[in-house]
Amino acid sequence: MAAAVCATARTDRYAVVGHPVEHSQSPFIHAAFAAQTGEQIEYGRLEAPLDRFAATVRAWADGGACGCNVTVPFKFEAHALAQRLSPRAARAGACNLLRFDRGAWFGDNTDGAGLVRDIQDNAGVALAGRRVLLLGAGGAAAGVLGPLLEAGPAELVVANRTPEKTAALLARYGAGDAAPRQSRLASAALDACGQGYDIVINATASSLQALAVPVAASVLKPGALALDLMYGAAARPFLDWAATHGARGRDGLGMLVEQAAEAFAVWRGVRPETAPVLAALRERL
Ligand code: ATR
Repeated sequence: MAAAVCATARTDRYAVVGHPVEHSQSPFIHAAFAAQTGEQIEYGRLEAPLDRFAATVRAWADGGACGCNVTVPFKFEAHALAQRLSPRAARAGACNLLRFDRGAWFGDNTDGAGLVRDIQDNAGVALAGRRVLLLGAGGAAAGVLGPLLEAGPAELVVANRTPEKTAALLARYGAGDAAPRQSRLASAALDACGQGYDIVINATASSLQALAVPVAASVLKPGALALDLMYGAAARPFLDWAATHGARGRDGLGMLVEQAAEAFAVWRGVRPETAPVLAALRERL
C-alpha cells in the first residue's frame, strides 16, 4: 500500500470526522498506536455539520492534514468523495477512511477487516465453515459483509427489517463478482431467519435505540458467539440477551481497535499491536 502523501507538517495530522464525534475513542486509540510505534502523528476529532461533510473535510485537507477516519453518518458521503477506492470500499459502497493523496484522494473501509480480526484473533472463533447471521443492511452491515464472506463461512444469512435494503446489499455480491463462492449467501426476514447459528452479529441500530434484540433467541446455537457492533451502554441489552440465552456475548470495542489498527497501517505502513490498546481502552471505559 502506498505511503501517505500529505503536506510537510513535522507532525502528520489526522482526525475522526463525524456528527456527533465528541465521544469517539479514536484519538485515544491512535495516540496509543503512535506511542507504541514511534510514529509522529497527531489525531483529533472534527465535527462536521450534517450538510457540510465535504466542505469540512476539504478545509481540513487544505490545512495540511494527511487523512481522516469517517464515522456516522458520513461513510456513504466519504465513498462519494474519494477519487480512488480500495476494492473492499468499492464493494461496501462506504468508506471509513480517507487518505489525502495528492491528486486523488484514496478511500478505504477497514471495518470488515477489523471485525473479522476481532472475531478470529481476539475472540478465537474461526469463521470458516461456520453458520453466520448478520442483522442489518445499513452502512455498518455493508462495511463488514465482504470481509465476512471472504473468511469463508459455510453460510451467511443477512436479515433486515426492510427487505429492499437487504436485496440491494446482496445484489452487490451476485454472480460474477470476485467473492469466494464457498459460502452460501442468503437474505431473510427478521422473524424468519433460521435457528442455531454459530455466530450472530448485530449491525442494526436497535441497540442505539435501546430496543429489544429484533430476532428470536433460537437463532443462537448454545455457546454461540453473539457480537454487537456497539460498545458501552448501548451494547448492554444485546450482551444481556446473549448471556440469558447461553451465548457468548461480545461488544464492538475489539472491532473498533482492530479497524483503527488497519487504518493506522494504511496511513503509516506499520501495523500496531492491538491487545494492549484494547485492554487499556476497556480499563478506561
Ligand atoms: P448504520 O450506518 O449504523 O448501519 P443505517 O445505515 O441507518 O446505520 O442502518 C441502520 C440499520 O439498523 C438498518 O439495517 C435498519 O433497518 P432498516 O433497513 O429496516 O431501516 C436497522 N434498524 C434500525 N432500527 C431498527 C429496529 N428498531 N429494529 C430492527 N432493525 C433496525
